[in-house]
Amino acid sequence: MGRSTALCAVLLIVAVVGGSAWTAGAARGSRCKAVRTAVSRPHSVTVTEFGAVGDGVTLNTLAFQNAVFYLQSFANKGGAQLFVPAGRWLTGSFGLISHLTLSLDKDAVIVGSTESLEWPVIDPLPSYGRGRELPGGRHQSLIHGHNLTDVVITGGNGTIDGQGSVWWDRFNNHTLDYTRPHLIELMYSTEVIISNLTFKNSPFWAIHPVYCSQVLVQNVTILAPPDSPNTDGISPDSSDNVCIEDCYINTGDDLISIKSGWDEYGISFARPSFNISIHRITGSTKSGAGIALGSEMSGGISEIKAEGLHLSNSLHGIRLKTSPGRGGYIKNIYFSDIFMTNVEFAIRITGEYGEHPDESYNPAALPLINKITIRDVVGSNISVAGLLEGIQGDSFSDICLSNVLLDVTLDRSPWKCSDIKGYSNLVCPESCEPLRGEAPFHSAACYLAEGLRPQDSHMNQPGILPVMVASL
Ligand SMILES: *[C@@H]1O[C@H](CO)[C@@H](O)[C@H](O)[C@H]1NC(C)=O
Ligand SMILES: *[C@@H]1O[C@H](CO)[C@@H](O)[C@H](O)[C@H]1NC(C)=O
Ligand SMILES: *[C@@H]1O[C@H](CO)[C@@H](O)[C@H](O)[C@H]1NC(C)=O
Ligand SMILES: *[C@@H]1O[C@H](CO)[C@@H](O)[C@H](O)[C@H]1NC(C)=O
Ligand SMILES: *[C@@H]1O[C@H](CO)[C@@H](O)[C@H](O)[C@H]1NC(C)=O
Ligand SMILES: *[C@@H]1O[C@H](CO)[C@@H](O)[C@H](O)[C@H]1NC(C)=O
Ligand SMILES: *[C@@H]1O[C@H](CO)[C@@H](O)[C@H](O)[C@H]1NC(C)=O
Repeated sequence: MGRSTALCAVLLIVAVVGGSAWTAGAARGSRCKAVRTAVSRPHSVTVTEFGAVGDGVTLNTLAFQNAVFYLQSFANKGGAQLFVPAGRWLTGSFGLISHLTLSLDKDAVIVGSTESLEWPVIDPLPSYGRGRELPGGRHQSLIHGHNLTDVVITGGNGTIDGQGSVWWDRFNNHTLDYTRPHLIELMYSTEVIISNLTFKNSPFWAIHPVYCSQVLVQNVTILAPPDSPNTDGISPDSSDNVCIEDCYINTGDDLISIKSGWDEYGISFARPSFNISIHRITGSTKSGAGIALGSEMSGGISEIKAEGLHLSNSLHGIRLKTSPGRGGYIKNIYFSDIFMTNVEFAIRITGEYGEHPDESYNPAALPLINKITIRDVVGSNISVAGLLEGIQGDSFSDICLSNVLLDVTLDRSPWKCSDIKGYSNLVCPESCEPLRGEAPFHSAACYLAEGLRPQDSHMNQPGILPVMVASL
């Protein structure tokens, strides 16, 4: 063992011991500022009052639609709750209204119909110009909303099951007519809470807030088989003031993926994703990343803080994806307290991701990637520490790595970097040459956003790791 390998090994032991202490001590108040504190509604109805039958066979689309329609009259009287009792409630797509709480019993399962006619086709998003998978419209999500404010979707861990396998099959056998639907999509909405629920088998991305502000996603479980295509967990898209915490996500693609529109459509729509906080996410993904930014990022992504990611048996830990033609930016991003085991690529930046909506994109529209800080990372059984590839002639700068300790199994070139620049400090194995500048932490280059500062990151308490290094 060379000196630097030995040093990495010692640091890892210290870090892993420190890490488990951190996990045990992590119980733990909410760090999301409540969008609205405990909303209680003066009126409540149960979906059975509108003829719904929870036998798993009867189609209840009309019952849900009628219940929501009826509750409109309470919107200006403090709002109302629609309660879904224990049972299996088969339904097609239905819409929500403002000042509504959709509340599921712990044994309630809302089950998405496998008939695609029950998921009407709607216009593409203006920031995408077309459906994400196919030109033209897209199927409407199972639960959707447009122009809403003050919406809560919650339950004592009740379930929303999209029965996605027919959609995955149609994707795999190329018989989809339009882009697949989400389980929940809210557009142009504010003051949204999604909490205390389990989401299963989404046809496509599970939770998709788009053009939204003030969104809280808390304490949800999202499950889909490891080989289900594009079943991303939570995808805030052109949305701001979003807080996501305490989620367990085990799906076929990115656990959390932040986006903001696609190529020329995203550039002209120009609605960024910003001020997004993510805390305490646990999960696995065989073909995606724990947290991904992009690849659709043409409206810009900034002021993102993600702390406390526990990832196992996954392809990528942290991933940034972009491409010439996207334009936009990804800047002022802060990741910390990341624990990974059995992960192939701990950190990956892909500058040439490709995938364009049509031939009209402008290849000269280059994305700006700046101030990406990744610190306090411990990884065991990692195949590749970092594959960091920018775009020739573009600027991917101020990439800062600090206190990143990875037990890398493929020994030769654990870091591969091209067309990026930045800094590193206490990185094992030693980072690639373009990142070897001494990290100017607490300077403006390594990002510590005002208002997005880490609050109780134990691993970067002064002393612990630097002392170990000094004593070796
Ligand atoms: C949402 O609001 C916009 C602007 O106020 C309006 O043009 C649009 O028709 C509304 N959409 C729905 C579905 O209410
Ligand atoms: C998370 O949800 C479960 C089940 O709904 C509940 O028992 C638990 O108290 C919730 N935890 C938090 C922090 O809200
Ligand atoms: C909620 O239910 C899911 C699936 O049934 C389960 O895996 C999870 O542990 C439950 N979550 C809580 C907080 O009880
Ligand atoms: C594709 O998958 C769908 C859903 O399972 C199935 O109904 C259809 O028959 C399949 N088509 C072909 C051509 O395999
Ligand atoms: C989630 O459930 C817990 C425990 O029942 C409750 O205290 C909390 O308020 C719920 N969260 C939301 C946002 O409804
Ligand atoms: C960021 O969003 C949170 C809600 O998640 C909000 O409470 C906070 O005020 C926002 N911060 C800024 C600087 O706007
Ligand atoms: C190491 O991680 C890889 C996945 O990256 C996995 O296939 C392998 O089984 C893991 N090895 C051990 C010893 O856990």
